[in-house]
Formats: sequence, C-alpha cells, structure tokens
Amino acid sequence: ALAWAARAEGIPAYIVVPRTAPHCKQAAIRTYGATLVPCEPSDKSRAETAARVVQETGGVMVHPNQELAVIAGQGTIALEVLEEAPKVNAVVVPVGGGGMIAGIAVAIKALRPDVKVFGAEPCNADDCYQSKVRGELTPNLHPPDTIADAVKTSIGPNTWPIIRDWVDDVLTVSEEEIKQATRLVWERMKLLIEPTAGVGVAAVLSEQFQAVPRDVENVCIVLCGGNVDLSSLTWLTDRPG
Ligand SMILES: Cc1ncc(COP(=O)(O)O)c(C=O)c1O
Repeated sequence: ALAWAARAEGIPAYIVVPRTAPHCKQAAIRTYGATLVPCEPSDKSRAETAARVVQETGGVMVHPNQELAVIAGQGTIALEVLEEAPKVNAVVVPVGGGGMIAGIAVAIKALRPDVKVFGAEPCNADDCYQSKVRGELTPNLHPPDTIADAVKTSIGPNTWPIIRDWVDDVLTVSEEEIKQATRLVWERMKLLIEPTAGVGVAAVLSEQFQAVPRDVENVCIVLCGGNVDLSSLTWLTDRPG
C-alpha cells in the first residue's frame, strides 16, 4: 500500500521486506515502482535494515504497524464494517504488529462499544495473547515459524496499550487449523485469501470461540490479505481430501 501511495504522490519509496515474503508481494512492490530492500526474517533485521535505509536516503521512516497514522488508517476498516454490517456483534482481526487491530479497536469502541473486538494469532506467534495474559508487552522470543507469514512480527509500544485496553480477547490457532480454514475459504467462498487471513477464520471455527457469549451472532472476520504464491502450495498436499 505504501509503494502504491508513494507512486501516486511521486515520492520515491524504499520498502524493507523479509527475504521469505511471498514472491507475489515482492513483485507487486517492484511493479508499483518502489525499491525493494531485502532483510532477514526477524524484527531485529528489519529494524536495522530500515534504520540504515533512512540514514542513506534521508527518508522518513513509516513503520508498518507502530506508526500512528498507519494505525489510524486501519481504523477505516472498522468504519466500513459498521456501515456495511450495522448488526455486527464482533470483529475478528489477525494480529502481527497490532496496527490493524489497534486502529479497528479504537474506531469500534468509540462508535459502538457494544461490539466485541477479538484478536487472532497463530499459536506459534502468540505474543499478543501472551501480552494480554501477562498484562505486559511480551514480544515473541524467536522469529516464529508459521505459515501465516504476515503476522510473524510482534506487537509494539504503540499498539500494546491500545490492545491492552480495547481488545476484548485474543484467540490462538494451530498451523493445521490455519491451513484448513484457508482451504475452506478458497473452496467454499472462492476467495484467494492468504493463510494470515485464514488465522481469523480458524479462530472463529475453533473450540475457544464456543466460549464467546451466545448473543454474539453476527461476526465479521477481517480477510486481511491475498498474497499467495500459487507455485509454493506444497502444504496443500499435507491433508487428505
Ligand atoms: C495480510 C496481512 N494481514 C495482517 C497483517 C497484520 O497487521 P498488523 O501487523 O498491523 O497486526 C498484515 C501486516 O502486514 C498483513 O500483511
């Protein structure tokens, strides 16, 4: 999105991307005219690489999830949901750095505090869940191993207080649940979501979600992305049928 916006404004953009990011995402960034700067798949490497790029180019750092303008921008997702689905009782949002759920939570709780906001995370990258349980920011100790590549990153100092105060609960799901949910959406809804979006679907299908009060009838799951490398779907064969 940043590459696209920069091109629209005629501003050069340098996008720091983990080497392991889907090829289609990297190709899109290049096609939008941005310079792609690869880093290793860890928050540390990404931060160091971004700092170097800022120093070399004199650019302005736009953090993908801790930047307040980015968080506010994600709040427009909630505005769209409330407009299009006014009977919604709960919104389920996959959590990486937490920018998306923070923006959504601020907007939802300001306008419709009765609507619940749930985070969804892979068990293998459950820093947001751990932070909520402990009551303090608890980043992932190691770079997580999950098929949901867009939520490998941890929540941070700007998103944690919002999540702590305004997110009702965080649900965690296994890799198998993510794969099955992603596949279900492809096959039943004919929507090409990426596994990270499948995390939210998996959370709603999970046993934990049964504990959500019965008056939560209308649930909106944010299908947050569709960057899937079709040539790398070897995991599809993991499951019979
Ligand atoms: C497809 C997709 N879903 C979810 C997220 C998570 O957003 P956040 O890092 O703001 O929690 C991202 C972030 O890049 C993403 O690309």
